[in-house]
Amino acid sequence: MKNIKISPSILSADFSQLGSEIKKLEECGADMIHVDVMDGHFVPNLTFGPPVIKDLRKHTSLKFDVHLMISPVHKYIEAYADAGADIITIHPEATDNLQDSISKISKLNKKVGISLNPETKIDVIEKHIDKIDLILIMSVHPGFGGQKFMPEVLEKIRKLKSIREIKNLNFDIEIDGGINFENSKSAIEAGANILVSGTTIFKSNNGDIKKNIELLKSV
Ligand code: DX5
Ligand code: ZN
Repeated sequence: MKNIKISPSILSADFSQLGSEIKKLEECGADMIHVDVMDGHFVPNLTFGPPVIKDLRKHTSLKFDVHLMISPVHKYIEAYADAGADIITIHPEATDNLQDSISKISKLNKKVGISLNPETKIDVIEKHIDKIDLILIMSVHPGFGGQKFMPEVLEKIRKLKSIREIKNLNFDIEIDGGINFENSKSAIEAGANILVSGTTIFKSNNGDIKKNIELLKSV
C-alpha cells in the first residue's frame, strides 16, 4: 500500500500571492504542488505558463506536479521541463503521438503523467502503461476548480489498481477534481494514493490549510 500524498492545486490560490501561497502549502504539510496549466483551448480557462512556473520554482523544494491542460502539448513539453516541472502530466487527446510525447518527457528526466478525463477509457493508455509514472484520474471535467465530484470514475481507479498488481508495475494513481472530506476515503479505498485538492484545502475550515491537509490525509 503506497502512502497517501496530498498535492494541493494552486488554481484555488490567490494568484497575486502565488509565491507566498506555495511557501505556506509547504509549511502546512503539502507533499507536492499541483500546477494546473490551462490554455483556453484544450479547456475553456486560462491560467499560467512556463515563465510563472520558473519564478515559482525558487519558492519551494516541493515537487511541481504540473498538469498540462493544453493542446497541442508536444511542442511545449520542453518549456515546462526547463521551467522546473518535476512531473509532467498530459492528456492523450492533446497529442498526435502519445508514445512520442511520453518518450520526450522521459528523455527530459521528468516523471511521465497521463491524465484521463471522466469519459476517457483506460485502454487509450494500456499499451503505454509500463512507461507511465503517474496516472491522473479526473473526477471532474477539466477547466475549473470547485466542481462536483464524479464518483463513477472510482471504477477506473479500481481497474488501474488491479492492472498495476497483475503487471507488477508501480505507477502512482492520482485523483483530481471535487475531492473533499466526504469522498477522499472512497478515493483512497479505490486505490488512489495522491489526492489533488484546491477548493477543499484553500477554502474549508476558514482557510485553515494545515488542518485541511491533515484531514484529507487522515482518512
Ligand atoms: C481542474 C483541475 C483540478 C482542480 C481541482 O481542471 O485539474 O486540479 O483545480 O480543484 P478542486 O479541488 O477545487 O476541484
Ligand atoms: Zn489538475
